[in-house]
Amino acid sequence: GKLVRFVTAGMDEETRSRLQTLPSGKGLLGVVLREPLRLANLNDDPRSIGFPPHHPVMRSFLGVPITWHGQTYGNLYLTEKYDGEAFSEEDERLATTFAAQAAAAIESARSVENLRSLEESQRRERQHAELLQRVIAAQEEERKRVARELHDHTGQSLTSLIIGLRRLEAEQDAEPARTAVRQMRLQASRALEELHHLAFELRPSVLDDLGLVVALQRYAEDFAQRTGIQLHMALDALAGVRLDPAVEIALYRIVQEALTNVAKHAQAHTASVLLQERANSLVLIIEDDGRGFVVPDVAAGNGKHFGLMGMQERVALLGGKLTLESAPGAGTTVYVELPQR
Ligand SMILES: Nc1ncnc2c1ncn2[C@@H]1O[C@H](COP(=O)(O)OP(=O)(O)OP(=O)(O)O)[C@@H](O)[C@H]1O
Ligand SMILES: [Mg+2]
Repeated sequence: GKLVRFVTAGMDEETRSRLQTLPSGKGLLGVVLREPLRLANLNDDPRSIGFPPHHPVMRSFLGVPITWHGQTYGNLYLTEKYDGEAFSEEDERLATTFAAQAAAAIESARSVENLRSLEESQRRERQHAELLQRVIAAQEEERKRVARELHDHTGQSLTSLIIGLRRLEAEQDAEPARTAVRQMRLQASRALEELHHLAFELRPSVLDDLGLVVALQRYAEDFAQRTGIQLHMALDALAGVRLDPAVEIALYRIVQEALTNVAKHAQAHTASVLLQERANSLVLIIEDDGRGFVVPDVAAGNGKHFGLMGMQERVALLGGKLTLESAPGAGTTVYVELPQR
């Protein structure tokens, strides 16, 4: 509560400029922030803190607060009534009415201003969401292209290399040469396997062709085999159902990231993925029985860990909600709810 602006009327520029310090809302002007005050001579009031040097003479005083529903915006005061008399009750009524109108005007100017800045921030938020959506869509497109490239071209070359090596292996008479060729063939086979895995991680074509449930089942098989973590999938409720492609890819990426976290950080024995359709929403729950962690402020991110933040953003873009439940020693649950159109 300090006065930040001081507006004068009826005081000439010179007089005003000679005032070195403007009132800050202490003394009588502080009282008038709370209640009306009418005095024949303000210098007689014990609450007056006196005047700074070069201050014009002031005796009669009438001040009223400018308030709106309990909120104080300032005060309005008059001194040195022209006829030299004290201010009357009628003057006080007039000043009070005037202050009430000033309060209403200030309030409406403020709400227009607030509304404008609210609209502005909503517009910026929408823009941000659109940009993010485009970034994610572009990312998925690029992954799709790379996955196809890997599968079609690099996979083809490796496959023909393996066939050639097999033929060479059969034709070789000398045992050492045959062993070398055989080793090369096994190496190529392993590379092919890795490549298929990579393409699948990037963007499983089954997601586009057969939908989320089948894609998740394939992913789960691959995951359990790779990590040795026992994985329980409960997806049947949505078997055969095709969802909005944006929802399918989001849920797939969330499971992928959550399970990757389980493999990387959780030291879990078992994990489960549950997908359910409710009246107006889809619910996805990924749970593990691992070591858990102190849930960070996901939205904030910290420039090093993008997994949880990415999940959060995908969910937010679709108007859904993501909740993380974890504590050291208590496992981790990722709970996602997306609205269904
Ligand atoms: N299931 C989990 N069990 C235990 N700790 C977890 C689990 N999931 C996440 N964490 C903890 O939360 C941190 C943040 O996870 P996040 O996925 O955001 O990042 P990251 O996995 O470290 O890196 P990135 O996902 O960017 O490759 C992890 O480093 C880990 O400490
Ligand atoms: Mg991660």
